[in-house]
Amino acid sequence: MSENNATTSPVSSYNEWDPLEEVIVGVMDGAAVPEWDVAVEATMPARSEKLFRASAGQAWPAEHAAAAVAELDGFARTLTELGVRVVRPDAVDHRRPFATPNWRSPGGLYSAMPRDLLLVVGDTIIEAPMAWRSRYFEIDAYRNLLTDYFRRGARWISAPKPQLTDDIYDAGYDTERPYESGRYLTTEFEPTFDAADFIRCGTDIFAQRSHVTNQLGIDWVARHIGGEYTVHVIDVTDPSPMHIDASFMPLAPGKLLLNPNRVKSVPAMFDSWDIRFAPDPALPRDHELYMSSAWVSMNVIMLDERRVVVEAGEQPLIDMFADWDMEPVPVPFRNVMRFGGCFHCVTADVRRRGTLRSYF
Ligand code: ALA
Repeated sequence: MSENNATTSPVSSYNEWDPLEEVIVGVMDGAAVPEWDVAVEATMPARSEKLFRASAGQAWPAEHAAAAVAELDGFARTLTELGVRVVRPDAVDHRRPFATPNWRSPGGLYSAMPRDLLLVVGDTIIEAPMAWRSRYFEIDAYRNLLTDYFRRGARWISAPKPQLTDDIYDAGYDTERPYESGRYLTTEFEPTFDAADFIRCGTDIFAQRSHVTNQLGIDWVARHIGGEYTVHVIDVTDPSPMHIDASFMPLAPGKLLLNPNRVKSVPAMFDSWDIRFAPDPALPRDHELYMSSAWVSMNVIMLDERRVVVEAGEQPLIDMFADWDMEPVPVPFRNVMRFGGCFHCVTADVRRRGTLRSYF
């Protein structure tokens, strides 16, 4: 990607740390509880089964959803005050059933986590072919934004829309050690990936095989983003792998944050980097998380190479960042965390000031 492209497109972002100029922040409005199917079961906490079975296609518990809406709006305000341009997706009603010729879904999910869906590589926005049926039309909430970016010079592509017939799911997946056995939920029937299984460090992009991202999906990304980039697959030993950004977080040149329980080894190319393990999450054990582990505590977003937005109650992590020559920006987000992500998940970079380069 040439420097020229970076300056003419409204979309331009190559890594996780160049100064953030414009970002999409998700919305919880219209969110629906997803159906408890094999793909959801593989990736969601077992404690959520009862609620998901009872409420598929319907609203989330109202008090928690309203608190999450308020926190998302507060985060968007903070970013604006810090000089970042914030855009939001349309508030789509996800509580409507839909079908393809092969299957039906009682509803969608939400427009809260653009990082799951949109992979920004340089001046290109890539729509991910997501493996959850409830997320099949999630892109619709972003169409106005994406059409506008395209009009103004961005490149916009969608990976091949998957069929998501039963062929893509392996009911015999390994529920304990999918990395070790190689038996993930998704088969290699067709390419699927979530954008949040990729994380960008300039010309090097890191990915994990997960229950929603298969090898064909990783190959599709590697082949389509072009020869300037190399996609590396990281060994992540997460029993329910879905999204790399609570496991493996490059924060700035030379700074890598790891989940101590999930990443046993990193490629030798990181030998000269300062690698630290995230402290245990500070969330109280009884804080209800419907869609993830408490490790979304480490799902932070960088505003530049030093400033990091971190959940206001995660004091051990805040202290660690301060000790690491970083400037923590604490923002309350515990109610958003109930829905599967934190600051990295609820955003998609549109523009960071910088150019394509190698950091290794
Ligand atoms: N799936 C990741 C976790 O639950 C985000 O930690």
